[in-house]
Amino acid sequence: MQLFTFFAIFGLALAETGIDGWLRYAPLPSSISWPSVPKHIVVLNTTKTSPVYTAGLELQRGIQSILGQDCHLSNGKPDESIIVGTLDAYVATYGNLTQAVDLKEDGYWLSTENNVVQIIGQNERGALYGAVEYLSMLAQANFSSVAYASNPDAPIRWVNQWDNLDGSIERGYGGASIFFANGTIVNDLTRVAEYARLLASVGINAIVINNVNANASILSPQNIDGVGRIADTMRPYGVQIGLSLYFASPTSGVQGQANLTTFDPLDSSVIAWWGNVTDQIYERIPDMAGYLVKANSEGQPGPITYNRTLSQGANLFAKALQPHGGRVLFRAFVYNQLNESDWRADRANAAVDFFKPLDGQFDDNVVVQIKYGPIDFQVREPASPLFANLFHTNTAIELEVTQEYLGQQTHLVYLPPLWDTVLGFDMRIDNETSLVRDIIAGRTFNRSSGGYAAVVNVGTNQTWLGSHLSMSNFYAYGRLAWNPAEDTTKIHEDWTRLTFGLDQNVVDTITNMAIESWPAYENYSGNLGIQTLTDILYTHFGPDPQSQDNNGWGQWTRADHTTIGMDRTVSNGTGYAGTYPPEIAAMYENIEMTPDNLLLWFHHVNYTQKLKSGKTVIQHFYDAHYAGADTAQTFAPQWQSLEGKIDSQRFDEQLYRLKYQAGHSLVWRDAIVDFYHNISGIADEHGRVGNHPYRIEAEDMTLNGYKTYAVSPFETASNYHAVVTSDNSTTGSVSTTLHFKSGTYDVGVNFYDMYGGVSKYEMLINNKTIATWAGDSEDYLGHTPSIYLDGHSARRTTFTDIAVKEGDILEIVGTPNGIEPAPLDYVVFLPKGVID
Ligand SMILES: *[C@@H]1O[C@H](CO)[C@@H](O)[C@H](O)[C@H]1NC(C)=O
Ligand SMILES: *[C@@H]1O[C@H](CO)[C@@H](O)[C@H](O)[C@H]1NC(C)=O
Ligand SMILES: *[C@@H]1O[C@H](CO)[C@@H](O)[C@H](O)[C@H]1NC(C)=O
Ligand SMILES: *[C@@H]1O[C@H](CO)[C@@H](O)[C@H](O)[C@H]1NC(C)=O
Ligand SMILES: *[C@@H]1O[C@H](CO)[C@@H](O)[C@H](O)[C@H]1NC(C)=O
Ligand SMILES: *[C@@H]1O[C@H](CO)[C@@H](O)[C@H](O)[C@H]1NC(C)=O
Ligand SMILES: *[C@@H]1O[C@H](CO)[C@@H](O)[C@H](O)[C@H]1NC(C)=O
Ligand SMILES: *[C@@H]1O[C@H](CO)[C@@H](O)[C@H](O)[C@H]1NC(C)=O
Ligand SMILES: *[C@@H]1O[C@H](CO)[C@@H](O)[C@H](O)[C@H]1NC(C)=O
Ligand SMILES: *[C@@H]1O[C@H](CO)[C@@H](O)[C@H](O)[C@H]1NC(C)=O
Ligand SMILES: *[C@@H]1O[C@H](CO)[C@@H](O)[C@H](O)[C@H]1NC(C)=O
Ligand SMILES: *[C@@H]1O[C@H](CO)[C@@H](O)[C@H](O)[C@H]1NC(C)=O
Repeated sequence: MQLFTFFAIFGLALAETGIDGWLRYAPLPSSISWPSVPKHIVVLNTTKTSPVYTAGLELQRGIQSILGQDCHLSNGKPDESIIVGTLDAYVATYGNLTQAVDLKEDGYWLSTENNVVQIIGQNERGALYGAVEYLSMLAQANFSSVAYASNPDAPIRWVNQWDNLDGSIERGYGGASIFFANGTIVNDLTRVAEYARLLASVGINAIVINNVNANASILSPQNIDGVGRIADTMRPYGVQIGLSLYFASPTSGVQGQANLTTFDPLDSSVIAWWGNVTDQIYERIPDMAGYLVKANSEGQPGPITYNRTLSQGANLFAKALQPHGGRVLFRAFVYNQLNESDWRADRANAAVDFFKPLDGQFDDNVVVQIKYGPIDFQVREPASPLFANLFHTNTAIELEVTQEYLGQQTHLVYLPPLWDTVLGFDMRIDNETSLVRDIIAGRTFNRSSGGYAAVVNVGTNQTWLGSHLSMSNFYAYGRLAWNPAEDTTKIHEDWTRLTFGLDQNVVDTITNMAIESWPAYENYSGNLGIQTLTDILYTHFGPDPQSQDNNGWGQWTRADHTTIGMDRTVSNGTGYAGTYPPEIAAMYENIEMTPDNLLLWFHHVNYTQKLKSGKTVIQHFYDAHYAGADTAQTFAPQWQSLEGKIDSQRFDEQLYRLKYQAGHSLVWRDAIVDFYHNISGIADEHGRVGNHPYRIEAEDMTLNGYKTYAVSPFETASNYHAVVTSDNSTTGSVSTTLHFKSGTYDVGVNFYDMYGGVSKYEMLINNKTIATWAGDSEDYLGHTPSIYLDGHSARRTTFTDIAVKEGDILEIVGTPNGIEPAPLDYVVFLPKGVID
């Protein structure tokens, strides 16, 4: 108590790891006074596994922590109490509520009127949701009197983890799996319970725990029991478990099961096999949510292997699950390799081509899970037209909280404004309002089911996702799945108050950074609908625009010396525009009506094509990449303005990432503008591209134990070249005489930080050490690593306020380590205010 008061008075913050996410229940500052809240909590179900009981404990813990008030769980009188339970239990105990409330599955009624707090769930889960909503109000010092019912917009509000049984996570940037290690389920499920608490607090009702690229051994008796332990751990939070299945499991020699010679979905032995496995799972986990299936996609086997339809494949599982009340989420991410020399070939057409003919053939407990756009989680995509082509099929949208193509949690990117462009998109079916969010909720076509799935790759890192600020995406995903019409800025403000405190300056600053972040990332990574211009053949992180083309993956840009963009018109292109309902099809068919931000998604144009803004395509590229990188330079200073208002651990860890982003956004900017400058030969009107008066290329310095190295892709090195030590065991150095005007500079060094070595660097001026650093980001940043000198490993470190005199000698000494030959690209001497 003493300690608490001390820190509260001085506003100092104890170090926090981030493990509590937005559920910190931070004590309200002593400057705030608040009305009394009831001291008794009446819990209308005391079964330990009941979410109602969990709600009681959570209320007790939260009120103690936020308000410093002890509450007793009791059967106290209904006045002066917080009552939490299901509507049925409430009515059985106290009789009808004084007003009629309309509750849908998982919904709740929350009333704080007249010194009684009623938290009444439609079911047990709903009661827990109401309890965390009440605690969220208290934690934000909101003591207003409320009385309302809140219902989820859609029944399916799932997350998908892409965890492998060996403990690795596909596209995971926050450490190893909390579920699996060494081919089986871990013993200690402490983190699993904490994860369930976070999920429940934002209304998520199910989780698929293993990778969609699934392994059949998840179905062994030992693993089914392990999954059962996970289900037992998450059940008190109302979170159900789902499993990803490997379609060819019947022929994979699953322990304890017959090993068949076929996985044909119409073969009676295969049907019996899945029926038996499903019965076994439900025996251990009676409330399992269901299955997630990726079939005939990216090399995975599926029904098409046997000339069966995708619906026949989906229904195989649906029929096995049906007696148990389970669902199959069947992914629409199905496409084939294509030949780019065919002007009409288009991967974006694949989902509609495969699934539209099957509309009406899926069982009622199948839900087709559709990525938000037709390609793959790009920085901007038009809403997938498949949403407007299935009228007799349940559908769910697939979002990605994990930032696979969006900076991999090392770049700040607040994703909800991007999701909002899809959820709020009006498909104009029959020329009437038909928002994607209404279609997936089942309202538009009167479907029985539908909703939301998001890839949320939390790991063992104490921050869950690797980055404190990325947790806003996880939080907002749950909020939007509950109510997709909510304002994404307001959601972020709530998250910030819960995560970093009530100081208005903190809330405004972090929210401002968040709102600027997606537009900035789009600007420096790929704009006008060209997609994230990353390396699609390797790690999906840094720049590599030419990787998009000349391969069968179909994420093409069709860039040549004069033109760029995919012609997806009906009249002359792939016909994709015509897969939308007529009004939308007409808009995208016509270059004048197509919004600039999707121009290159739909049209193949000259670099000199004029946009609605009046700029040419190429000049827009140049300007946007400079503007986006400029914005990214402001994030670290904005964050630094909050020093002392955020605990030092989270402050320092996030600052490291924001500084990294500032440097890497320049790597992105320069790579993309250099690439298109090189291919088009068109100069930047503002003279910036290829013109860097403050830089000294490493290869132009005097090399001692270093040699010049031609970097690939070329545009990821300034002047296409870097230097590396002559071998990877001997220290080398580069040196030069400085000819800048005497003064004070910020000195940036661009180097490559590869995976598999921690090189050490020392920078000297006139033999005096002014800075040291190491290529050790693999120990701090969880993004997919690179073992090459490329756009993923390229980074900048900056040292501020360095005094320099004309004629000074600059020297950098590099000591290689492992496979990393202390690579250097260039040094830049920046006068105050200059960004380059
Ligand atoms: C109490 O909770 C348990 C566990 O969730 C549940 O099985 C039981 O039906 C609940 N009892 C009532 C009366 O709601
Ligand atoms: C409670 O409400 C139900 C319908 O909502 C009604 O049938 C019943 O008569 C009410 N009971 C009392 C005691 O008012
Ligand atoms: C996995 O197995 C290795 C070696 O058998 C062991 O050292 C490690 O502790 C295991 N990890 C877990 C999480 O069980
Ligand atoms: C069903 O599964 C159980 C447990 O894995 C196994 O023991 C049994 O042999 C299976 N039954 C059939 C008919 O395959
Ligand atoms: C299971 O059968 C397939 C052929 O259907 C075979 O390739 C595989 O080796 C068998 N696995 C085991 C463990 O017997
Ligand atoms: C599928 O059909 C194609 C042609 O219709 C045929 O060549 C192929 O053998 C069939 N495959 C199977 C597994 O039946
Ligand atoms: C029409 O398509 C051809 C390829 O078939 C392409 O070369 C041409 O540029 C397109 N014309 C226009 C106006 O987009
Ligand atoms: C729907 O809109 C399209 C495109 O604007 C138009 O051609 C069509 O006549 C409209 N249909 C109806 C039924 O109004
Ligand atoms: C590009 O410009 C040339 C010359 O003005 C024109 O002939 C051609 O049709 C344009 N190409 C496209 C794809 O717009
Ligand atoms: C740096 O040290 C070297 C050798 O120790 C010496 O030759 C050189 O003059 C020094 N350079 C400067 C600028 O002091
Ligand atoms: C965990 O995340 C923190 C904060 O971003 C980072 O500093 C740390 O290096 C991460 N640890 C691992 C093992 O990824
Ligand atoms: C030196 O680097 C090369 C490739 O860059 C690598 O193949 C080799 O194993 C490295 N040597 C050591 C000792 O790590």
